[in-house]
Amino acid sequence: MVGPGTGVAPFRAFIQERAALAARGEKVGPTVLFFGCRNRNEDFMYQDEWKIYQEQLGDSLKIITAFSRESSRKVYVQHRLSEHAELVSDLLKQKATFYVCGDAANMAREVNLVLGQIIAKQRGLPAEKGEEMVKHMRSSGSYQEDVWS
Ligand SMILES: NC(=O)c1ccc[n+]([C@@H]2O[C@H](COP(=O)([O-])OP(=O)(O)OC[C@H]3O[C@@H](n4cnc5c(N)ncnc54)[C@H](OP(=O)(O)O)[C@@H]3O)[C@@H](O)[C@H]2O)c1
Repeated sequence: MVGPGTGVAPFRAFIQERAALAARGEKVGPTVLFFGCRNRNEDFMYQDEWKIYQEQLGDSLKIITAFSRESSRKVYVQHRLSEHAELVSDLLKQKATFYVCGDAANMAREVNLVLGQIIAKQRGLPAEKGEEMVKHMRSSGSYQEDVWS
């Protein structure tokens, strides 16, 4: 799940559902959220809630943050995706669904691009093959977007 800013809204519900399932003793799969905002002290939405879900879901939940205005260099969700390329690629090999929600104008396009690069690099394929695999994920429903601009 990639949901910077207000794009995090649907993923809050996904995580709530998994936390409820886990509380009932059901097994839940690995759940990874890439969340980005400006500054952890200003617009880190649901910061306290994530801590509760983290306790409920333990190792199966990973929340990876990108705070864009905490340093001189912009840090965005797609940078974090690249840093966690191996994890992302492993999850895709396990047939994970990739979800993106938020800004369509820049963020979603850049995330799409970076995912293709990750797949190509991690699997030793040419860049075009990575792009093709993302297109295939889209057409087969394993890359889902809810984006707007
Ligand atoms: N006044 C405020 O304090 C405040 C706070 C939050 C939101 N808003 C406004 O509320 C609206 C919706 O906000 P939102 O929370 O959905 O989004 P947002 O706060 O505009 O953006 C969420 C995060 O995405 C980052 N971002 C910007 N361009 C990106 C890109 N190309 N790829 C990946 N990430 C990128 C932003 O970084 P940068 O912005 O640092 O580039 C920010 O860290 C916007 O109009 C926003 O301006 C205002």
